[in-house]
Amino acid sequence: MPLRPTSPILSLTLARRGWGMTVEKWMFPLVSVSFITVLLFLSAISGFTASSAFLARRPTPTDIRRGPAHLPAFAYYIYGGRGDSRRILRLLLAVYHPRNRYLLHLSADTPDSERVDLVARVWVSIPAIRAFENVDVVGKASAMTPMGSSGLAATLQAASVLLRLDNGWDWFVTLSAADYPLITQDDLLYVFSTVPRNLSFVDHTSDLGWKESQRVQPIIVDAGIYLANRKSFFKASENRVTPESFKFFTGSPWVILSRSFIEYCVLGWDNLTRTLLLYFTNAILSEEGYFHSVICNSPDFQNITVNSDLRQFHHNDAVLDKIDSMVLKRQRHKAVPGAWCSGKKRWWTDPCSEWGNANIVRPKSRSEKFGKLMKSLLDEWKLKSSSCR
Ligand SMILES: *[C@@H]1O[C@H](CO)[C@@H](O)[C@H](O)[C@H]1NC(C)=O
Ligand SMILES: *[C@@H]1O[C@H](CO)[C@@H](O)[C@H](O)[C@H]1NC(C)=O
Ligand SMILES: *[C@@H]1O[C@H](CO)[C@@H](O)[C@H](O)[C@H]1NC(C)=O
Repeated sequence: MPLRPTSPILSLTLARRGWGMTVEKWMFPLVSVSFITVLLFLSAISGFTASSAFLARRPTPTDIRRGPAHLPAFAYYIYGGRGDSRRILRLLLAVYHPRNRYLLHLSADTPDSERVDLVARVWVSIPAIRAFENVDVVGKASAMTPMGSSGLAATLQAASVLLRLDNGWDWFVTLSAADYPLITQDDLLYVFSTVPRNLSFVDHTSDLGWKESQRVQPIIVDAGIYLANRKSFFKASENRVTPESFKFFTGSPWVILSRSFIEYCVLGWDNLTRTLLLYFTNAILSEEGYFHSVICNSPDFQNITVNSDLRQFHHNDAVLDKIDSMVLKRQRHKAVPGAWCSGKKRWWTDPCSEWGNANIVRPKSRSEKFGKLMKSLLDEWKLKSSSCR
């Protein structure tokens, strides 16, 4: 079996297509015999469960319709550190939809056993993933220091991987293992179907206030980039002056970025993205400033930016069960039932173990409130040509 230990992606599509092709393409350097055993075992189980549904043709990725006349799609980058795999799995179940694309990243300090365990769990918990092949796990993980720029570097790398993996998504969203959605994907897709696909949502301000001395001027070196298993940074003894070649913007780290803006950041066809990246490599909390500063300094994108982070995600572990039962209607260990789930709704079955049309959504009451918020933001955005001041 030819193994090429070069690809950074550990793909969940591994078992489905058989070994020859995908293994060669996606194999990850540390996949061991035990992992292969897990996969063989899992495919044996799924062979049994799949046989009953064998006759009915199930929709596959080619049945998903794309383009401005159809529903949009999101690319989710979900990241966490050692011990976060359970939370990441729960978050994935809460935001899963066959239209979307997902890239999961456990930082470099996570043992490989946890990473492999996550792959196996994802693979069993949402059967539709095996058909739609829309979830991947980063195999060659990188460091992520909470305060430094390694997180930003990982985000940009994830964005570039997602661009290459899938040409069907419209918006890029990053979530940490601590986030949890307050809205179903059906509602989110429904509301975003009214939004021009080239709009980005970035909460931003150039009024730096206290952040100027605390965030802009200090120079730091992110230790995660240079030393394995370091989660800290070194602070230089001298500060730098606030930059003049561009205007510094800051805001919520929670952003929804259009595909065209991600292409601009990743492919970088002018010097703005690179100049700012150099600057933010040594900044504290670069994720609260990089995208904000790039988008607001770019003539092509500053007028198609809405000043809001649309905060539809929560940050408190204590209330997740409540959100599941009251908002998402999600059962334990199961995906949020959307219009794509076509199985029977009984307490012992998972309606999403069978699936139908992923080109329709069934919005619920929450979509009305969110739709109103979206409409008022879009109205405000149309009035002002740019909020980047
Ligand atoms: C953004 O997309 C809309 C159509 O949805 C188009 O009319 C507009 O010209 C686009 N703007 C830019 C700056 O690309
Ligand atoms: C980009 O380059 C141009 C000239 O090539 C220069 O005038 C401009 O200041 C540069 N922009 C940044 C953000 O460095
Ligand atoms: C964006 O808006 C500014 C200010 O209204 C305007 O000067 C500029 O030409 C616009 N840029 C584009 C690409 O439309």
